Amino acid sequence: MHHHALLDKINRRAAQICVVGVGYVGLPLVVEFAKAGFPVLALDVSEDKVAAINSGQSYIEDIPTSTLAPLVEAGRVRASSDYAELRHVDVVIICVQTPLNKTKDPDLTFIIQATERIADYSHEGMLVILESTTYPGTTEEIIVPRLTQKGLKVGESVFVAFSPERIDPGNKHYGLRNTPKIVGGITPACLEVTSTLYATAVEQVVPVSSTTTAEMVKLLENTFRSVNIAMVNEMALMCDKLGVDVWEVINAAATKPFGFMAHYPGPGLGGHCIPVDPHYLSWKLKTLNYNARFIALASEINTSMPLYVIDKVVDALNDDSKSVKGARVVVLGVAYKPNIDDVRESPALDIIDLLRHKGAHVVYHDPHVPSVRLEGDTIMHSTEYSDALLQQADCVVIVTHHAWYDWERVVKHSRLIVDTRHITRPQNGGARIVTL
Ligand SMILES: NC(=O)c1ccc[n+]([C@@H]2O[C@H](COP(=O)([O-])OP(=O)(O)OC[C@H]3O[C@@H](n4cnc5c(N)ncnc54)[C@H](O)[C@@H]3O)[C@@H](O)[C@H]2O)c1
Repeated sequence: MHHHALLDKINRRAAQICVVGVGYVGLPLVVEFAKAGFPVLALDVSEDKVAAINSGQSYIEDIPTSTLAPLVEAGRVRASSDYAELRHVDVVIICVQTPLNKTKDPDLTFIIQATERIADYSHEGMLVILESTTYPGTTEEIIVPRLTQKGLKVGESVFVAFSPERIDPGNKHYGLRNTPKIVGGITPACLEVTSTLYATAVEQVVPVSSTTTAEMVKLLENTFRSVNIAMVNEMALMCDKLGVDVWEVINAAATKPFGFMAHYPGPGLGGHCIPVDPHYLSWKLKTLNYNARFIALASEINTSMPLYVIDKVVDALNDDSKSVKGARVVVLGVAYKPNIDDVRESPALDIIDLLRHKGAHVVYHDPHVPSVRLEGDTIMHSTEYSDALLQQADCVVIVTHHAWYDWERVVKHSRLIVDTRHITRPQNGGARIVTL
């Protein structure tokens, strides 16, 4: 009965949707469902985010204010920090963060807190979907018991599903709408209502047999990235020892039209997902006495890359008869990938800290990131960018290849460049370039 009533509300776009946690993942979801015609409530513990949304102001680069503001003005999107609003909500989608603690174990505090608050206001006919990336089993082990405490029955009076978020911030080709959406339900009814819901906002829904399968799909995708990047990073280390240019090797290998997918070395992994998510999987497997070897090895190699970059800087300065101590080093780009403002887990932060430890005078420039928090809670601000900045540097380290930079100009005005992204080309009279 509840199942059909909910389907009907979804089909009429009358279901009230609430997204809990409106960060990089939650806010785009709010916008997409509002565009699909639903009334959407954005619920967050951050009063700043609530105030920003209610004034039509976006704080996520991929969501222009010009997209959000009309939806707020039309009354389709509203924000609140009050969980009591859930009394009138039909669909709750949880998008809170899932970080690691200091020992690299999953920190589920945010999911647990959000679920407990949701459970306070859960009611018959409610659908709760978890989108946060987490270990296989979370939906069944954490969400279901809390939602059923008051006697609600999953698949009959309350519906529960997992649907991993696959958003790729900064990606101009693939957004929420044209990226297929994986959905797993606790029961067939849970799967049906959830698939119907996403089909209103996403071009293709991919149902799988369980919430645990859906959770595992996301971890396969992100572990695949982590392991492949680690493998190519190790290729870079091996090519260096062999005196072979790894970039030439990869580009030649990439001409093979089948069975090879090019990945590129870099200064290390960053972001909230790839360096973090595989540890959710290995943690779960540890509880089953299984050691996830690929994940451990990939993590070891990827986290060592900033140290390799430092070795390159030290050697390059040495070739100029300079020591890193006292050297003026300019780091270009600190976001974890190009054309975004996210510095979570960015290897640039490790590189700056390591250079400072060695006594270098480090400044950074990033057109997207006005300031960063370094070791010891030191705040560093992005320096003013100019030709003179490059000319005065003993070494320029390219960490993030934002499209904002004119790389020919960077080469022209610098003396020495350590280019971790293979984005620059040598030119007459320009900088000496060292790559990974
Ligand atoms: N950022 C990405 O590119 C990306 C991509 C795919 C999947 N994911 C996954 O999506 C999830 C969210 O990531 P994100 O990058 O959007 O995180 P985020 O930190 O940008 O956003 C999380 C939001 O949740 C809010 N929040 C925390 N606890 C809350 C609570 N109890 N009630 C209400 N709001 C609460 C925070 O204030 C914050 O605004 C993570 O599990 C992540 O792994 C992220």
